[in-house]
Amino acid sequence: RSSGGRLRVTLRAAQGPTRVAGREATTLSYNGGLPGPTLYLQPGDRLQVRLVNDLGDPTNLHVHGLHVSPLDNGDNVFIAVQPGESFDYDYQLPADHPPGVYWYHPHHHGMVADQVFGGLYGAIVVGDPERVAVTRERVLVISDLSLDGSGQVAAPPAMARMAGREGELVLVNGQSRPVLTARPGERERWRIVNACSSRYVRLRLDGQQLQLLGVDSGRYPEPRDVDEIVLATGNRADLLVTATAGSSVLESLPYDRGGMGGMMGGGSTSSGGGAIALATLDVAGAAVAALPPLEAQPAPRDLRGLTVAGRRELIFAMGMGGGGMQFTIDGKAFDPARVDQAVQVGTVEEWKLTNASSMDHPVHLHVWPMQVIAEGGQPLDEVRWRDVVNVPPGGQVTVRIAFDRYPGRTVYHCHVLDHEDDGMMGVLTAT
Ligand code: C2O
Ligand code: CU
Repeated sequence: RSSGGRLRVTLRAAQGPTRVAGREATTLSYNGGLPGPTLYLQPGDRLQVRLVNDLGDPTNLHVHGLHVSPLDNGDNVFIAVQPGESFDYDYQLPADHPPGVYWYHPHHHGMVADQVFGGLYGAIVVGDPERVAVTRERVLVISDLSLDGSGQVAAPPAMARMAGREGELVLVNGQSRPVLTARPGERERWRIVNACSSRYVRLRLDGQQLQLLGVDSGRYPEPRDVDEIVLATGNRADLLVTATAGSSVLESLPYDRGGMGGMMGGGSTSSGGGAIALATLDVAGAAVAALPPLEAQPAPRDLRGLTVAGRRELIFAMGMGGGGMQFTIDGKAFDPARVDQAVQVGTVEEWKLTNASSMDHPVHLHVWPMQVIAEGGQPLDEVRWRDVVNVPPGGQVTVRIAFDRYPGRTVYHCHVLDHEDDGMMGVLTAT
């Protein structure tokens, strides 16, 4: 489909029988599948989604990472679609929308972790204006969940909720350890989404040649050789895999997100433990002819050197309050009636994201991507765009944001979805 096109789709959120890791289960899903359907768009396209809520609870839809208007029925997390109702979302992508892999999930405050963990997520691909020569593209949506003995999604204990729940099963496109096949010399493009509610993945695929095209909407000018990729919850990778004969395991290595720091008697995050096998890539058969070399990508936009209209510091913390553990930004829990940051459309701001707690917080801003300028006070020497930026315990990350184009009201929050549901979210207005 070419630019200026339109994609209309119905997403029906419901609870029902699904197959998870080869067994019968009852999960939530969009249109009955895990993950929901992948939505393919081009820059300049219009996306019209009818969200049908067949759940027993309110829900809504967020198009994570898309640079679309937060006004009206756009990227509006303040809308609640009640059980039995439907809602029509209408998104217009600008003609210069960054290509890459994005995703969609519910965003009804207080239920986000339950609904995403329960099975509501899907990928969005925004195609490239230029061609990237590959043999094949795959979308790999990584999610996690726990099932109880009767195949129902298991509710996490309170401590796990505070740390951010992690499921016992880590799935790729709803499957446990799928086997992918390729021939030697084939170049594949893997669009990887970390759709886990809290889990970070630290991916390896030993024995294969990996080149990272970009992360989130951020594209490197040249594909970058990597052997490991860390994706916080919400992050995506656009990865080239050049197949080498043999069998390789896509695994997620342990990642320590920190813990409650002794508060409430412990409650560490669970991505400790060993490596988790996610999928196998079997490369066999006759080698294919070499593909043409990759073209350089256009140089990314760089906000360093521009005039900064505003500087802010946001402090992410946790502590006792409101009858339990609260997760806060600048000492406050989310209140949809309050405006926490008011910005001017057309300006560039610099935000210091400070983590005053003992756990990682992956910080996500809707609508506008963030350029990471410095980590721990150390300026970066590369141009790095992200829509989820990890801030480690006691750490500080400086980002710049160009509030281009769109007036409206939206949110920023921790993408550990249990933290967001527990209050770690703020309201931003752009005028
Ligand atoms: Cu992926 Cu506000 O979320
Ligand atoms: Cu958090």
